[in-house]
Amino acid sequence: MSTIDTAATPTIPPHGGVLVDLLLARPEAERAAEETEHLPKVAIGQRELSDLEMMAVGALSPLTGFMAEKDYRSVIEQMHLTNGLPWTIPVTLSVDEEEAKRIGGASRIALISHGSPIALLDVEAIYRRDREAEAQSVFRTTDTAHPGVKALHAAGEYVVAGPAHVLHLPAHSTFTTYRLTPSQTRAAFAERGWRSVVGFQTRNPVHRAHEYLQKCAMEIVDGLLLHPLVGETKEDDVPADVRMRCYEILFENYYPKDRAMMSVFPAAMRYAGPKEAIWHAIARKNYGCTHFIVGRDHAGVGSYYGTYDAQKIFLDFDADELGITPLFFEHSFFCKKCDAMASPKTCPHGDDDRVILSGTKVREMLRAGKKPPKEFSRPEVAQILIEAMAERTR
Ligand code: ADX
Ligand code: MG
Repeated sequence: MSTIDTAATPTIPPHGGVLVDLLLARPEAERAAEETEHLPKVAIGQRELSDLEMMAVGALSPLTGFMAEKDYRSVIEQMHLTNGLPWTIPVTLSVDEEEAKRIGGASRIALISHGSPIALLDVEAIYRRDREAEAQSVFRTTDTAHPGVKALHAAGEYVVAGPAHVLHLPAHSTFTTYRLTPSQTRAAFAERGWRSVVGFQTRNPVHRAHEYLQKCAMEIVDGLLLHPLVGETKEDDVPADVRMRCYEILFENYYPKDRAMMSVFPAAMRYAGPKEAIWHAIARKNYGCTHFIVGRDHAGVGSYYGTYDAQKIFLDFDADELGITPLFFEHSFFCKKCDAMASPKTCPHGDDDRVILSGTKVREMLRAGKKPPKEFSRPEVAQILIEAMAERTR
């Protein structure tokens, strides 16, 4: 492991103070690649590959590998790592019983992605997952209809813990110009002279409400990092490539170029609501954001979480242990009487005057080739979504 000097950039220290870098330098990486030929091999799936990529570039600082059982327990039970830092979601490498046996007593294994080695892992321990406790803590439910709980059950029952040494980042053919690492976003902020930056997480197209939150925040900070999640999402979420086209057209038409930038967040979506909101905030701090937007039902799914649970959980932490400042927003909408975007904090009118559409309703309209009202979604965005829907059903 080596470290990157972030003292040169004026924004905010990473979680734990040091930006982790797990990428092996050239000669070491070549030697490691040769070494993998003689090691037990374990295939790494798409979700855990996202975690590995994030650890490699420091997005999950201070993590330097997959979690040991003590940290796993501590995260589930105390929302902190054993070193005392806040952390709310276990980062683990799953194996099934057969793979666990195959690893046996080996002290090193090779992680294989799409048929070739991507990392070495120093095996510190193999332990059994506590699925019930993990689901209840992370997702606040053990219902296997929840997409996060479902993924947890699909994953192996054992986990391998230990530090990772990464040969190379996963190869990406998509969004290559937007794949900035934390040290690159930090450098980009510094270059623009931004000392305060608000991060915006999303797994959806940006509609007027999202834009409103971002722009309210932009009134009080130097810059915006639109940071859409592009790792695995559930089947019925809008695919990342379609969303990226929406973000690009919005940026072209409605965002000031010197105040807003976009890059992608490689994480897989957990749908863990409050626990994921904290995790998202910590990761964005690592990318150099000083502020982070948390609106209604952040990272939620179905009706598993209360509308503002993902905001309330921030009260369980001291402001200085998180470091990054959350910016909370209530349910926002366009109000016809106000003739403006608003929220219950600023608008005295009733639901009848407010343009509020459910996700289901919007999907129905788009599928029928109908644009949702411009008060709900920018017409350019609606157009892209209609075309994408038509392509998918063709
Ligand atoms: S997610 O990752 O949180 O699932 P989503 O795209 O649904 O992504 O939301 C992105 C951010 O905008 C979250 O912080 C969410 O709470 C907030 N948000 C979405 N819609 C609204 C809305 N109408 N009013 C207030 N906040 C919203
Ligand atoms: Mg949402």
